[in-house]
Amino acid sequence: MSNDSRLFRDRPLTRRRFLTYGGLGAAALGIAACAGTGLPAAAAPDSATATEAAAAASGLAFRLTARKTDLPILPGKATAVFNYTGEVLQGDPDAVTAVPGSYLGPIVRLTRGQVVRVHVRNELDEPTNVHWHGLIVPAAMDGHPSNLVDPGTETTYEFAVRNRPGTYWFHPHPHERTAEQAYYGLAGLVIVSDMDEAALGLPSGAQDIPLIIQDRRFDNDNQLVYIDSGMAGMMDQMMGLLGDRILVNGQPNVALPVATQPYRLRVLNGSNARIYKLAWSTGAPLTVIATDGGLLAEPATFPYVMLAPGERVEVWADFSQESVGSQIKLLSLPYEGVEASSMGMMMDEPALPNGAAFDIMSFDVTTAVESSAALPATLLPVEALSTAAASNGAVPRTFVFAMDNAMNWTINGRRYVMDEVAEDERVRFNDTEVWEFVNQMDATAAAASGMAGMDHGAHMQHGAAAMPASSMKDFMAHPVHLHGIQFQVVDRQVDAAQRAGWETIKDGLVDQGWKDTVLVMPGERVRVVMRFDGYRGVYLIHCHNLEHEDGGMMRNFEIT
Ligand code: C2O
Ligand code: CU
Repeated sequence: MSNDSRLFRDRPLTRRRFLTYGGLGAAALGIAACAGTGLPAAAAPDSATATEAAAAASGLAFRLTARKTDLPILPGKATAVFNYTGEVLQGDPDAVTAVPGSYLGPIVRLTRGQVVRVHVRNELDEPTNVHWHGLIVPAAMDGHPSNLVDPGTETTYEFAVRNRPGTYWFHPHPHERTAEQAYYGLAGLVIVSDMDEAALGLPSGAQDIPLIIQDRRFDNDNQLVYIDSGMAGMMDQMMGLLGDRILVNGQPNVALPVATQPYRLRVLNGSNARIYKLAWSTGAPLTVIATDGGLLAEPATFPYVMLAPGERVEVWADFSQESVGSQIKLLSLPYEGVEASSMGMMMDEPALPNGAAFDIMSFDVTTAVESSAALPATLLPVEALSTAAASNGAVPRTFVFAMDNAMNWTINGRRYVMDEVAEDERVRFNDTEVWEFVNQMDATAAAASGMAGMDHGAHMQHGAAAMPASSMKDFMAHPVHLHGIQFQVVDRQVDAAQRAGWETIKDGLVDQGWKDTVLVMPGERVRVVMRFDGYRGVYLIHCHNLEHEDGGMMRNFEIT
């Protein structure tokens, strides 16, 4: 089944999704109401071409249903999963397509400037909601944990597509339940296109391949295993769940047949806590054409690429020089500096720790074709944000990601509180600011506090002596994600004590272009710059290690 290329190739696409579908214009969707509140109107303001204005008038409406079901993942017995199914109600019927054979949600194809209405139906027996990761949407449409869809009900999300062409995704965001709902299968890809991108002639249709990489744990009965109670579960909760089976688009042992031509690979790390060090088995560099916020100004090559949970990277993979019969693997190379280096001291080492080497999938060259596709020298313009324009340029707004003495994951010493926005978590609409994310190392405090303050007291009594708290908290990486905004990375600094591990990953940090999630390694500080020109309202900043997020390493921030 994994050899079946159909699973990855939905259908030949024209990529020209600019037809007009009647009756679903911006006004019909009520988006015009935004104008009255002073919020940006439907079309992308910085590239509102006539074509995109026309696209705005050709809306898309679809239903997304979250339900429990059984689907085959491993050979043999089907697996109980949570699953999104999609159904187009109005607009291009091919805009929402299931990935055949996958327990993951459908791929949603949007056009920049388009107006979208999504009816989210919850057939689970717990509340859920949908966050459009990376998309700039009004706060009320963003899947804030205070906006839930109760079991048996339906909620409507409406927004205009303002993002640049690229790869985004969607997943649930209920407080303390994001990790488990995503783990059981609630995640899907969003692909944004526009005319400027189409003009580049990048590989499309069957040569445009989404690759959602995840790690999962299965029991002997093919059932997903999440976090159990007891000592091992406590560790997973603290560090984030690491599975020992690598799935690509929901399938194990993927071998994808390819032809001797270039492909556009859209890679999403949809794992809860695993960080990949992506590399080709040939030793060739990876050619990156897009990051979280879409296409780069120009392609960039890396010996390997670090991809943390939530991040996306698009790779130009050219098999035209390969011979039929050859096999090229996509690997995750070994690295140091994340918790793997200290795991040996702990009781329950994951079977496949972060930093371990493994194969992700293979590309099997099966067909010779003539292809004239060439990598464009330039892609799409990226406006460079300047720190000089920042209202706080000299003094960045700092967010410290750390574990407190009670072993809770915190941001600036605070845990998530649903309706709380602190004074230093408010920014002004349209301001440009520099923020600094600090992955704080505090070994002394950790050693001193020991296990005494654990709030999982009952579980901990038993294992306390065997588990050095300091090593655990000192070696956690935090992929920092912001809602409602795309930012640019300014620079990075790393503590001398953590430099050795960092050196094993630094050449794979893709800091070009627009980002919404950035890996902050142990002992590292990352400065980013952004302009709050999306929408006003309450958004989230959190660690995209989903167990850290659910554990409270999340805060509201408000654009006022
Ligand atoms: Cu992909 Cu707030 O998350
Ligand atoms: Cu984290």
